[in-house]
Amino acid sequence: MTNDDSPLGGAAGGEILRVEGLRKEFPGVVALDGVDFDLRAGEVHVLLGENGAGKSTLIKMLSGAYRPDAGRIVVDGAPVEIRGAGDAQRLGIATIYQEFNLVPELSVGENLALGRPPRRFGLVDTKKMHERARELLARVGVDVDPRTPVGRLGIARMQMVEIAKALALNARVLIMDEPTAVLTTSEVERLFAIVRQLRDQGVAIVFITHHLEEIPQVGDRVTVLRDGRSVTQVPASTPENELVRLMVGRPIDQQYPREPAAPGEPLLRVRGLGRRGAFEDVSFEVRAGEVVGLAGLVGAGRTEVARAIFGADPHDTGEVLVNGRPLPRGDVHAAMEAGLGLVPEDRKGQGLVLGADIAENLGLVTLRRASRGGFVDRAGQRRAAADVAGRLGVRMSGLGQEVRTLSGGNQQKIVIGKWLLADASVLILDEPTRGIDVGAKVEIYQLINSLTASGHAVLMISSDLPEILGMSDRVLVMARGRLAGELAAREATQDSVMALAVSEVEDARVH
Ligand SMILES: Nc1ncnc2c1ncn2[C@@H]1O[C@H](COP(=O)(O)OP(=O)(O)OP(=O)(O)O)[C@@H](O)[C@H]1O
Ligand SMILES: [Mg+2]
Repeated sequence: MTNDDSPLGGAAGGEILRVEGLRKEFPGVVALDGVDFDLRAGEVHVLLGENGAGKSTLIKMLSGAYRPDAGRIVVDGAPVEIRGAGDAQRLGIATIYQEFNLVPELSVGENLALGRPPRRFGLVDTKKMHERARELLARVGVDVDPRTPVGRLGIARMQMVEIAKALALNARVLIMDEPTAVLTTSEVERLFAIVRQLRDQGVAIVFITHHLEEIPQVGDRVTVLRDGRSVTQVPASTPENELVRLMVGRPIDQQYPREPAAPGEPLLRVRGLGRRGAFEDVSFEVRAGEVVGLAGLVGAGRTEVARAIFGADPHDTGEVLVNGRPLPRGDVHAAMEAGLGLVPEDRKGQGLVLGADIAENLGLVTLRRASRGGFVDRAGQRRAAADVAGRLGVRMSGLGQEVRTLSGGNQQKIVIGKWLLADASVLILDEPTRGIDVGAKVEIYQLINSLTASGHAVLMISSDLPEILGMSDRVLVMARGRLAGELAAREATQDSVMALAVSEVEDARVH
């Protein structure tokens, strides 16, 4: 909720930081081409823009990761140079990237003390270090033992530790790059409570998100970036469709353009699938032409089931049939051979070869198949790759750009594009539009439509309920490792899905 004492909400005060005419060029790409932006104490300033618009590049210049080619950064009224993390720290600027900067092997306390643990007689004073850590953790309201290794924490808690670390450095400016992308609804609520609290204490917060509904909930002002330029600045209360128009440059009339196809033969059959301690008795079918949504709370077992179907993880009971043929257990190659594809939830780890270029990544699956036939039509493959990259609006200098240097959302598009090119007859998409901007989402939905129109089957896991409701022909809901129910598109509503997702399945405990 915004505070109504001031038009900015919270304790909005004077300007802390400003950038003027910031410019940054990479080989073949102008990432920022004149960005103006100002930040006041006690505000949450949202950076909004399509994938590749330049949001992460902008904040990397504020945190000292990149140097601007032109333009200037002004802090407390004086121009500054931020040459590295040390400079940013001295200026009170802390950044929470999506790839956290914590050391997983070290404890929470050690991470919070990083670089300057309290000492006594020349030795690290562990007791004091833990005390200090407890204080900081209490400030963000998280109950973690400072002795816990960070690697054992879930993502939400790691994020809280990152925020606590920023507090330890007395940050006046806290920058968060898509902090909610990986959080569940209740974790987002918790994060927002802390963000509001920090704002009210006068911290200036830069907040990046592709979830437009979050903007009025947590933001005060919004700066819109388009193609590396700051195009406008508006209040966070600006209606969503107007924000979309500003960032994409055109209105989007239909956010979920599902065009149902006549369902054909079952292409994917899952029978009695189970794995001890994870999921049990999962049975369903997906027919040619269908989009079946798989909903449920985080931890319900959806990703585990998807990975077992694909053979990425083993299962104890049951079987999977693709095009009528049973798949051997735990054999990804056999699954791919049979026409199954999986767009995994964790793209950087599993979906991409970061050091290879876009064309190579897009061709990964196709190439494996083609080379088996002994003939590789490289030119044809490049054309197909160019076509998919174009349709998805991948912002790149060319097909030869290293995937590592793409923006987060554009990397995501490559993972999806790879499987779209692979012509898998059954595609499992795990959180397909996470980190994707609103315009590109519609493109992905249209590609899903064209797949099902040509007889492919799609199983879509998503925590984005509007996406599940908007794009599925049928919705399966998992709760505690079991299928809690199935809903036809017309019966599926926010309420009916949630009711099943939190349902107490009889004997729900998986043995
Ligand atoms: N190190 C780099 N080398 C080459 N190009 C880069 C590099 N870093 C960023 N770019 C390019 O700069 C542009 C802006 O990228 P940036 O990561 O800032 O986008 P973004 O707005 O954060 O997008 P997203 O919403 O997808 O995260 C992109 O075209 C990207 O490919
Ligand atoms: Mg980014």
